[in-house]
Amino acid sequence: MQTDRLHPILTNLPVPVIRAFDKIGSTNDEALAWAEAGAPDGSLVVADQQTKGRGRLGRAWVTNPGAALAFSLILRPTVAEQENLGLFSPLAGLAVCLALQGLGLAAEIKWPNDVLLARRKTCGILAESSWQAGQVHGVVVGIGINIAPASVPPSDQVQFPATCVEGQLGRQLDRWVLLHAVLESFFEWRSRLGSAEFFRAWEQRLAFKGEQVTLKNSGGQSFNGLLLGVNDQGNLRLRMDDGMEKMVSVGDVHLRPVRG
Ligand code: BTN
Repeated sequence: MQTDRLHPILTNLPVPVIRAFDKIGSTNDEALAWAEAGAPDGSLVVADQQTKGRGRLGRAWVTNPGAALAFSLILRPTVAEQENLGLFSPLAGLAVCLALQGLGLAAEIKWPNDVLLARRKTCGILAESSWQAGQVHGVVVGIGINIAPASVPPSDQVQFPATCVEGQLGRQLDRWVLLHAVLESFFEWRSRLGSAEFFRAWEQRLAFKGEQVTLKNSGGQSFNGLLLGVNDQGNLRLRMDDGMEKMVSVGDVHLRPVRG
């Protein structure tokens, strides 16, 4: 892995220490262990390949060598941030979305935090926290971005159609430049976590806004509604067929557009 390029590229960011691996099980596992061992706020774990990459809801996340960005950021939440722990994933989604928009791509956020290009998943986020004596000790924000075509999983292995940044950009991309842009946006918006501006920025980039969507929970129950936006707790706002507004909280729910 080109760690020699990684360090100078990230010098102007509040990233005090970086651990870079050619191959690792999961950057989130490494980051959680490092957080337990006292890693400072902003510490970063990056890997070229993951052999046991983890996704949400216990799913696997494949990271093929040299084809993707796979990294985990360790955060030591402030007292104010501890009130908004659930917003670190959407913050990461917003940061990735803004970084991709900076490349001229029409990126969108599939609530709560998957990032889509051309309505296909390009980035997944897994935030996990470690607790000690009832207090959050550290938060690990793991981000996986499909960069080259080799990073895109076969269609029969995904829940939602997938694509990659280079496929949409029509050219090759320096992964580390995108990593820098994501981290820069992340730290910029971190200071506004939970603010009205934060929710507006998130809502402005929501995919399927004004469209009928289906939400399905782990029990297999599903319902349709018109996607209105997010409220100031990060819950999804839907207009139901009876005209009532319904709030859906982040949890074990999958969102999809309704096929016409
Ligand atoms: C999802 O969409 O289900 C979330 C995927 C999160 C993948 C990233 S890749 C870097 C970090 N390490 C992991 O094991 N998972 C996250």
